[in-house]
Amino acid sequence: MKAAIKLVAGNSNRALADAIAAYLEVPLAKCQVRRFADMEIFVEIQENVRGQDVFIIQSTSFPANDHLMELLILIDALRRASARRITAVVPYFGYARQDRKAGPRTPISAKLVANLITEAGADRVLTVDLHAGQIQGFFDIPTDNLFGAPVMVRDVKERMDLSNLMVVSPDVGGVVRARALAKRIDAPLAIVDKRRERAGESEVMNIIGEVEGRTCILVDDIVDSGGTLCNAADALLKEGAKEVHAYITHGVLSGGAVARIAASKLKTLVLTDSIQPTEAVKVARNIRVISVASLLGEAIGRTALEESVSSLFD
Ligand code: R5P
Repeated sequence: MKAAIKLVAGNSNRALADAIAAYLEVPLAKCQVRRFADMEIFVEIQENVRGQDVFIIQSTSFPANDHLMELLILIDALRRASARRITAVVPYFGYARQDRKAGPRTPISAKLVANLITEAGADRVLTVDLHAGQIQGFFDIPTDNLFGAPVMVRDVKERMDLSNLMVVSPDVGGVVRARALAKRIDAPLAIVDKRRERAGESEVMNIIGEVEGRTCILVDDIVDSGGTLCNAADALLKEGAKEVHAYITHGVLSGGAVARIAASKLKTLVLTDSIQPTEAVKVARNIRVISVASLLGEAIGRTALEESVSSLFD
């Protein structure tokens, strides 16, 4: 049975929204997001949504504040247009790295953003690979945190010799995520343990696990400056790894990150399209993009039909 839904796309990732619409065989609703001269955002939903189950697709990626504001205003417009249910589909949930007080008098911005989305009028949230699973609990509305792992596993199985793989977490914080992927491909797990012995001294990278002669796959949620990734790749190769690849859900890739990765010893970096790839990403010699469109499309369809979403990952 086909779900009766409306799909609305913000401006952050139109290509992904189009791919989700194609998967669901539902056209994107007519909607305009415009700017006033002073850059205020103005939104107009140009078709009836009264009583409808509406899904807004918008990553809060660069420029994060503009895309977040666009999402909030879209939610507000749909609520005032009497949509029956509004789901914020946020493939990349920005501000997630600010998920705790990192020091005195600092904010927990991930919680603030969760409050903003809820207060604007969202009834549900659908997202992918939250930086920390517990951010799900920052929302007091139902929130599904989808895992990018099945999409990555499919790609690994299609392209790599599974017999010699070692999955690697680039830091201790990412072990759970990396272990989940390792389990799915029946590969062992190694960990890069970064330590700064004394303030002012550079970090020492210890590899926990035997990587010599192995094809290593680094797994992480975010690549931003590329520092974590490139340093981990260097450390693994120094320990005798045969080659290093990386699978990362969200390609934030700020500043010179793409150039840094292109110049690194990483054989390939595979990203999902949770954040729209820039031209630089598309032409980078060692970066490939795989799509989470069918994963999100399936989750949207199941949500609309009140079917299980978690069973997508069984
Ligand atoms: C950190 O906890 C995240 O999982 C990523 O490892 C981090 O955001 C990557 O940042 P960068 O690419 O700037 O090193």
